[in-house]
Amino acid sequence: MIAKCVLLVLLVAFASASPVAQDNGMVDFREALDMFINAYKKMMPCGFAADNIPAMAPLTVDFFPFDYVNGETHLKGNVSNIRVSGLDNFQILSGSFDNNTMRATFDFMYPALQILGSYEVEGVLSIGGLLMPIRQKVLINKKITDWRFVGEYTFGQSLTNSNGLRIKDFNLQYLVGGVVAANWDQYMDIAGNNYFNSFINSFSVLFTEEIQPYVTPLYEKYVLPSINSALSNMSLTDLSNYLVMQAGVWNNACNVQA
Ligand SMILES: *[C@@H]1O[C@H](CO)[C@@H](O)[C@H](O)[C@H]1NC(C)=O
Ligand SMILES: *[C@@H]1O[C@H](CO)[C@@H](O)[C@H](O)[C@H]1NC(C)=O
Ligand SMILES: *[C@@H]1O[C@H](CO)[C@@H](O)[C@H](O)[C@H]1NC(C)=O
Repeated sequence: MIAKCVLLVLLVAFASASPVAQDNGMVDFREALDMFINAYKKMMPCGFAADNIPAMAPLTVDFFPFDYVNGETHLKGNVSNIRVSGLDNFQILSGSFDNNTMRATFDFMYPALQILGSYEVEGVLSIGGLLMPIRQKVLINKKITDWRFVGEYTFGQSLTNSNGLRIKDFNLQYLVGGVVAANWDQYMDIAGNNYFNSFINSFSVLFTEEIQPYVTPLYEKYVLPSINSALSNMSLTDLSNYLVMQAGVWNNACNVQA
């Protein structure tokens, strides 16, 4: 339940940019969301071990071996000393929530993400029956700028529980300002490395544009079902209370562990 609600961060957490004044003393959804986002940001440098949330500012991975087999493709290798910084510097550009239509919009951006680390891979890649041997030993040095997510969704009635919520009419677009790779493959010369870096830079931006039509359907297929199953048990008030409660816990995450 809690782990699923972390997924909510991705989707729900950005509906609100500023809290609204309350006259009845109750915390409404927008205000709860604002508290939740601030607490999430505050928790990121420490993570929250009790919920298996790793520290994310920066996010580090010491060593991760993989061995991937699919048909004739066989890739074996490892990723090490990964460090992703900038995840906690997201900016909320705008957000809204209409409590009559239950429609929310969000617009947020990561101004700069930096990915450092290294990977090694050996094996064979099969592309349409064509076998390509792969051998790489790469220092990763990559920067992504102005990675922006713009979207909207509506809270509707859960399909499994008439008292619960679900997210419907979901729509997400994302845009990448730029990708700058300065990777270094020890098995390649300078020209080869330059070529591959410029390939990654243009391909990454192109790839972002190419997959745009698939982002919303993929999200609907793989992410929304688990979010909706978590929401099926909650009213908007329950959800707001949950966000406030979680904010209280995360606000102290760094104090507890320090
Ligand atoms: C992965 O890591 C291990 C241990 O550091 C190393 O010996 C091995 O050569 C690495 N590379 C591959 C492709 O498995
Ligand atoms: C909805 O919003 C309006 C104005 O923003 C407010 O007066 C009203 O109390 C809200 N209704 C609920 C159920 O929160
Ligand atoms: C719904 O929530 C209640 C308490 O909040 C819990 O006891 C119950 O197991 C939940 N049901 C589902 C299906 O998650």
